[in-house]
Amino acid sequence: MSEKLNIAVIKGDGIGIDVTEATMAVVTAALTRLGLPALHETHISAGAGHFRDTGCDIQKGGEELAGSADAIFLGAIGLPSVRHADGTEISPHLRLRDQFGLYAGVRPVKAYPNAPQRLADPRAAKIDMVILRESTEGLFYSAAVHDRSIVKGDDEVQDFMRITRPTTEKLHHFGFKLAQKRRERGKMGKFTCVDKANVFKSQAFFRKIFDEVKTDYPDIKTDYNYVDAMALCLVRNPWDYDVMVMENMFGDILSDLAGGLVGGMGMASCAEIGDDVGLFQAAHGSAPDIMGQDKANPLAAILSGALMLDYLAERADQSALADAADLIDRAVDAGFAANRLRPMEFGGDMGTKAVTEEVIAQLAVVK
Ligand SMILES: NC(=O)c1ccc[n+]([C@@H]2O[C@H](COP(=O)([O-])OP(=O)(O)OC[C@H]3O[C@@H](n4cnc5c(N)ncnc54)[C@H](O)[C@@H]3O)[C@@H](O)[C@H]2O)c1
Repeated sequence: MSEKLNIAVIKGDGIGIDVTEATMAVVTAALTRLGLPALHETHISAGAGHFRDTGCDIQKGGEELAGSADAIFLGAIGLPSVRHADGTEISPHLRLRDQFGLYAGVRPVKAYPNAPQRLADPRAAKIDMVILRESTEGLFYSAAVHDRSIVKGDDEVQDFMRITRPTTEKLHHFGFKLAQKRRERGKMGKFTCVDKANVFKSQAFFRKIFDEVKTDYPDIKTDYNYVDAMALCLVRNPWDYDVMVMENMFGDILSDLAGGLVGGMGMASCAEIGDDVGLFQAAHGSAPDIMGQDKANPLAAILSGALMLDYLAERADQSALADAADLIDRAVDAGFAANRLRPMEFGGDMGTKAVTEEVIAQLAVVK
């Protein structure tokens, strides 16, 4: 490997800055342990702080810089105290999602030993699944930021759900390939279509395309669940699920529910992937209530860093990067198993720096 891969790094606001620095330190340590070159970082200033200082939400040319990198890593964007004149918050990251067509929202949900488990059933220790949330259309197609709702004076507002064949086909192929990859890594290898096909034509269409695409992947087990039943199953028997695909709004809701089962926001990693661009970030925000206090749990961001390495492995055809991703996952696992990772978020005694140092220490010793 000679040429360094280039990462667009947007630290953003609040704890976004701390968890990004933690992630890049862990990623570098994992690459070093495997004798791989460090990534090149191109820093881009964006967010509420940048807006407050300059009147713009991202530095000039920042979007192009981000789009031309091999991957984008983002901390968190937004501060409730900094707003546009219409009251909405500063959110250039939502524009990036739209501009680069980041349709595949990947949200892993995994139980770690000694991390909070919200279900009493001992099988909850086996929770290891991924919510695949379509992230460019669905009900969010008429999200306020796009200004597509039908507003009839002060009497009626209609938002609508858009499901298109090109995006849905790509999404389902992505999900089947993800299930295959997970099966190769010893996971269940099952793909569940979550919809409301019994009621909505758009949702029956979503399922019809799932059925068409599944013929290409006879090795993957499939099943279906209506979204309301899925909410029940995520509380009753989440350990029976592997990869679940759904439209945008359903994914928005169920990924929070699923994240809650295994701790909280500080464990919720996230990848947003399109045809040419991948953006990686923790699912949480800038947490202004704890910023600047070394209290943030950096693990969601660190695990998102591992997702980024896995993505780069495929994009750059460098399988050693997938080994680095796996190393980070195993370091986090080992740290929890030995009760050496005790984030303050879960009532522990370790702040951002201490958690980061422990993950780096685990990287050096994990088998
Ligand atoms: N993708 C993003 O950048 C993103 C996502 C959500 C919210 N936001 C923005 O972040 C700001 C704050 O939003 P919010 O308070 O609704 O959500 P938040 O996720 O920032 O915080 C919610 C709660 O979870 C806690 N929390 C979040 N991440 C944590 C971590 N890593 N470790 C420990 N505790 C953690 C916070 O302290 C807070 O109590 C807002 O400006 C919002 O617009 C940005």
